[in-house]
Amino acid sequence: AVAVTVRELAVAMSKKAREVVSMLRQMGESNVSPSFMVEPDIAQMVAKEFGLRTKLLKLRDSELGRTRVTEETFDSLEPRPPVVSVMGHVDHGKTTLLDALRTSKAKVAGTEAAGITQKIGAFSVEVKDSSVTFFDTPGHAAFKSMRHATSRLTDIVVVVIAADDGVKSQTVEVFDLLKEFPNLAPVVAVTKIDQYDVDTEKAVDRISRQLLEHSILTEGYGGEVPIVPVSAVTREGFDDLLETLLLQAEVLELRADNKAAAEGLVVDSAIVKGQGGVADVLVTWGKLKPKDVVVAGTEYGKVRGLISSGGKRMKEAGAAEPVRIVGMKGLPKMGDEVVVVASESEARAVIAQRIKQQEVKELEKQAEKLGSKRLSEQ
Ligand code: GTP
Ligand code: MG
Repeated sequence: AVAVTVRELAVAMSKKAREVVSMLRQMGESNVSPSFMVEPDIAQMVAKEFGLRTKLLKLRDSELGRTRVTEETFDSLEPRPPVVSVMGHVDHGKTTLLDALRTSKAKVAGTEAAGITQKIGAFSVEVKDSSVTFFDTPGHAAFKSMRHATSRLTDIVVVVIAADDGVKSQTVEVFDLLKEFPNLAPVVAVTKIDQYDVDTEKAVDRISRQLLEHSILTEGYGGEVPIVPVSAVTREGFDDLLETLLLQAEVLELRADNKAAAEGLVVDSAIVKGQGGVADVLVTWGKLKPKDVVVAGTEYGKVRGLISSGGKRMKEAGAAEPVRIVGMKGLPKMGDEVVVVASESEARAVIAQRIKQQEVKELEKQAEKLGSKRLSEQ
């Protein structure tokens, strides 16, 4: 094994460079940057910190050829759409904004698969020749309870602040939460600017000053957090918001390999009439195709059909695309990791391995508890 750069390590683990940077800092390394060289033993510790078993990491690496990822191959990876969540104070307009965005482009319409309307907790909006994926989180309370999964599904958080109400307690809570997730970039959307008594410029100025009091520095106020005025009613500012999100995606260097076998995370799963077992998945790497054998957590299936959030049949699904997999034999949990394997027998072997790992983890936990109990009794 040789030393790798932070960037290479991040790509090998499907993480972002800044996540690895902050992990290394937490582990006590100083002067860490994306080109910082990481020794193999440290790389293993980082992988472990991210919950990736070194062995599994190696297996996936050899399957995907990711151990050979270098600075050059990083450049050859294709940019992927950003995955965006919306959060903010109660009644500030999160749902209305998401609904307006959901219907803002023609993608949602079109031929529905067998007349079934899909409800995938994510949808994508096409912008010129790229797109933005919105992850329909039920709010930041839910985000807290499933923090790990959601934070791994999201790149950018749109913090919605109503122009007529300004920064409120839950707005501040969202920013506090974001401090725990350095991999999530905030974008402020000042909503409801269509209200008759709202002066957009004044509202943006007032909100920027309020945020400043909480040490959140927006653009034009000594910082880099973009602040975009919008109206979910007139759709004013939508183009600005979408362009800002794409710009952030570029800054975050969101990329994925479109030629590799797919990986993803489970958003939801269910038994659906006429479809059987389905898993709604956000692809995070590679391309998912019909007939692929997928392992999701400790369940598996063979892709019988791929359905978009708009209800259309898809020929394939790439990184950051939300997709419904039809053909699951069991129901995986939200946040479960999805990987494509060679055959159904391999799927069963991988699952057996995962179950064993879970059992070992559980035993370790119990042993730890017992150990600390004994110590405290001494
Ligand atoms: P919770 O889910 O309860 O936290 O609220 P929310 O943040 O999802 O707010 P919601 O979208 O339900 O909007 C609250 C109210 O504000 C509703 O009555 C909306 O119609 C109204 N509203 C939302 N966005 C706009 C907007 O851009 N302009 C105007 N005029 N009203 C809006
Ligand atoms: Mg709502």
